[in-house]
Amino acid sequence: MNKELKILAIIVALVGITYWGIEPYAHSVMHPHHEPATFKYEDLKPLPVKGNAQRGAQAIVNNGCTGCHSIKSQNIPAPMDPVSASASYGVNPPDLSNIGAIVDPKFLANFIKNPTHAALLEHKFGDSKPYPMPAFYGSDQDLADIVAYLVSIAPKNLSDREVFADGCGRCHNVRYDKWTVLGDRPKFKNKVEEADFELKLAKYEENLKNYLGTTPPDLSMYIRSRGGEYIRDFVENPQKLLHGTAMPRVGLTEQATEQVVSYLEYVGDRKKEKRNALGVWVLLYFVIFSILAYLWKKKIWAEVL
Ligand code: HEC
Ligand code: HEC
Repeated sequence: MNKELKILAIIVALVGITYWGIEPYAHSVMHPHHEPATFKYEDLKPLPVKGNAQRGAQAIVNNGCTGCHSIKSQNIPAPMDPVSASASYGVNPPDLSNIGAIVDPKFLANFIKNPTHAALLEHKFGDSKPYPMPAFYGSDQDLADIVAYLVSIAPKNLSDREVFADGCGRCHNVRYDKWTVLGDRPKFKNKVEEADFELKLAKYEENLKNYLGTTPPDLSMYIRSRGGEYIRDFVENPQKLLHGTAMPRVGLTEQATEQVVSYLEYVGDRKKEKRNALGVWVLLYFVIFSILAYLWKKKIWAEVL
C-alpha cells in the first residue's frame, strides 16, 4: 500500500471514531431521548356522554365560568381588566371564544373537571396552594354540553398568531412581534401613556411570577435556541422535557401546536425561507465550478503528457 493511502486510512479512522464515538454521546446529553408527541392525551379519560351545544350555552353561565372568563365573540365581557384578574388569579383567565378550536376536546373536558390533573401541575398546586380555577362539580352531562358549546362557537380558521395569543399569550411575551402578556403593545401618543402601560405590564408580570414561582420567558428567539421539534414536544407534555416545571400542559391539538411553531418561526427566523432557497443556488454553483475545474485539469494534463 502506498503512503498516501495509509495516511487516508488513518484520517478516516480518526474521523470515524470522533464522529460515531463522540457525536451520539454529546447528542444524548444535550437532547435526552423522549417519546415523540402524539397529541392523543392518552392518560385522560374520554367523556362518557355526548354533549349538546345549545344546552351548553346556558350551562357555561350557570356553572360560573363567565364569572372569570370572557367570551367576546358571544358578547360576554371580561369581569375584570387583565391586571386586576392577575392580582386575583395570578394570570388573566383566557377568553373562551376560540378555545374549542385549539384545545383538544377530550383535554378540554378533563381540564374543566380537574384542571391541575390535566395540566400536570399536581406537584405545584393542592390544598396548601389552591389552583386559581376551581374543579368542576356539575354533572357529566353539563360538562359535555359546555365542551360541545365551546367547540360549536369556535371559528374554523385562526391565524398562527391568534392561536399563539389564545394558547400561550397570557403567560409569554414575544417582544420581537410586539406581543405582551396584556395583548398587543399599543402605539403610544405620549410618554405618560407609555409609562402607564409599562407599569401595568410590570404589575401583571410580578403577579405571574408569584403565581408560577418563575417568570415565563419571552419566546421571541426560542425557535433558535430550542428548535421547532423541541417546542412541539414540550407543548404536548412540558413535564417530559423539563421535569417539575410550572408550565402547564395546555392540551393543544396537533394542528394548533404546528401553528404555534410556525408563528415562532416567523418571529424568530424570518430569513429561513430565503436561506433555504439560497441553498439550491450555492449547490448549483459548486456543481458548475467542479465541472469547470475538471475540464481545466484535463486540458492542462493533456498538454503535459
Ligand atoms: C375563579 C375563576 C375561574 C372560574 C370560575 C373558571 N375558570 Fe377557567 N381558568 C381560570 C384561570 C385563572 C385560568 C388560567 C390558568 C393558567 O393558565 O394558569 C383558566 C383556564 C381555563 C382554560 C384554558 C385551558 C387551557 O388548556 O389552557 C379553559 C378552557 C377554561 N379555563 C374553561 C373554564 C370553564 C369552562 C369554566 C366553567 C366550568 C371555568 N373555566 C371556570 C379561572 C377560572
Ligand atoms: C400558565 C402560564 C403558561 C402558559 C399558558 C404557557 N407557558 Fe410556556 N412557560 C411557562 C413557565 C412558567 C415557563 C418556565 C418554565 C421553567 O423554567 O420551569 C415556561 C417555559 C416555556 C418554554 C421554555 C422551555 C425551556 O426549555 O426552557 C417554552 C418554549 C414555552 N414555555 C412555550 C410555551 C408555548 C408554545 C405555550 C403555548 C402553547 C406556552 N408556553 C404556554 C408558563 C406558561
